[in-house]
Amino acid sequence: MTVRLLAFSASTRVASFNRKLIAVGARAARDAGAEVTLIDLLDYELPLYNGDLEARDGLPEAAARLQQQFAAHHGLLLSTPEYNGMFPPLLKNTLDWVSRADASGQSGLRFLEGKVAGLLSASPGALGGLRSLIASRQYLTNLGFLVIPQQQAVGGAGQAFGEDGALVEARTQAGVEKVAHALVRLARQTQE
Ligand SMILES: Cc1cc2nc3c(=O)[nH]c(=O)nc-3n(C[C@H](O)[C@H](O)[C@H](O)COP(=O)(O)O)c2cc1C
Repeated sequence: MTVRLLAFSASTRVASFNRKLIAVGARAARDAGAEVTLIDLLDYELPLYNGDLEARDGLPEAAARLQQQFAAHHGLLLSTPEYNGMFPPLLKNTLDWVSRADASGQSGLRFLEGKVAGLLSASPGALGGLRSLIASRQYLTNLGFLVIPQQQAVGGAGQAFGEDGALVEARTQAGVEKVAHALVRLARQTQE
């Protein structure tokens, strides 16, 4: 069975370290045998969630497209920045919208529940966004994801990537590959 993974960075900054890291992660997941759809959240821009807006206009078109992306994949590979010890509002706002009811009136959580998820983070700081991973793990679990225990935080991100976008340290690359392999393995097991 072919494992299909959705992958994105929770930073849309052009020079984002997490954008670089998710590209490395996507490559590792492909090497582990998965089909990976690497998307850019810039292509899914959403307003800040507001219940009145939702009641008036329904689910934004970008959220409906994201629901379909999740429906078409077995899991998520995420790379997230850390803002003040937490994942950024972009991640929360995006997945909060995805969790909302679609045009059929059914909860969007059905597109997320039981899906596997693997977490990466990158930061110029020494801890590499580790606190953001802890918070992301809790949030994704609340949404129904099965988050694998393996994770990789990339610290000193300004020096962590070579010109070609590859990780400079073999140990860090091995950590990303470990996440990718475990994610593909669990996706296979849960689909059997
Ligand atoms: C509001 C804000 C808060 C931040 N707080 C943290 C933090 O708690 N820990 C950390 O390691 N870096 C923190 N940073 C620095 C980010 O790690 C850095 O901007 C990083 O480059 C963002 O990820 P990106 O390169 O993928 O855009 C913060 C940045 C911003 C804008």
